[in-house]
Amino acid sequence: MSLKEVLIDELRDMYSAENQLVTALPKLAKGANDATLAKLFEDHLEETRGQVLRLKSIFQTLDEKPTGEHCGGMEGVIEEGSDALEKGTEDASFDAGLIGAALRTEHYEIAGYQACIAMAKTVNMTDIVELLTQNLNEELAAAEKITAASRTILKQAASEPEQDTEPKTGKEKYSEKKSKEDETKAAAGIRKHG
Ligand SMILES: [Fe+2]
Ligand SMILES: [Fe+2]
Repeated sequence: MSLKEVLIDELRDMYSAENQLVTALPKLAKGANDATLAKLFEDHLEETRGQVLRLKSIFQTLDEKPTGEHCGGMEGVIEEGSDALEKGTEDASFDAGLIGAALRTEHYEIAGYQACIAMAKTVNMTDIVELLTQNLNEELAAAEKITAASRTILKQAASEPEQDTEPKTGKEKYSEKKSKEDETKAAAGIRKHG
């Protein structure tokens, strides 16, 4: 397998990831209680649409089709975000959960674009490096804006009282069971290490 083929697979992953975000970001924008945060998600949705188009033009340059890879990583990250959204409360603590989810999506994209850019540079595909860098810079800026907006939201969330815990849903119980399995599987390796 050539590096160019790996790069094309990675780009298809990014294309799928961005398309998934076009569907996910409106839910975050609608869910956010804080107006600044909601506006940020809306603005980044607009940018994300542009990023999909940039990736499309990259595939045109390469004479390759953009589809072919579903990004399971982004699907998982978005799923974590839906868990945060499901809580559906009207407080700053809820927004704090959305911020955690949104930062995960941005950093997942940042890692993806950085990998693609490094590969494209290595195989001298300078024409696509420019477009990929534009997408990367938007992701970096989005992560920074979310972090900036989080400061007041987290402060506000810190003053909110603790809520009575609701009974666990089936999904939460499953998640709890899996987390214990993660711990058990790792335990032997950790003991050996120590
Ligand atoms: Fe993006
Ligand atoms: Fe993004």
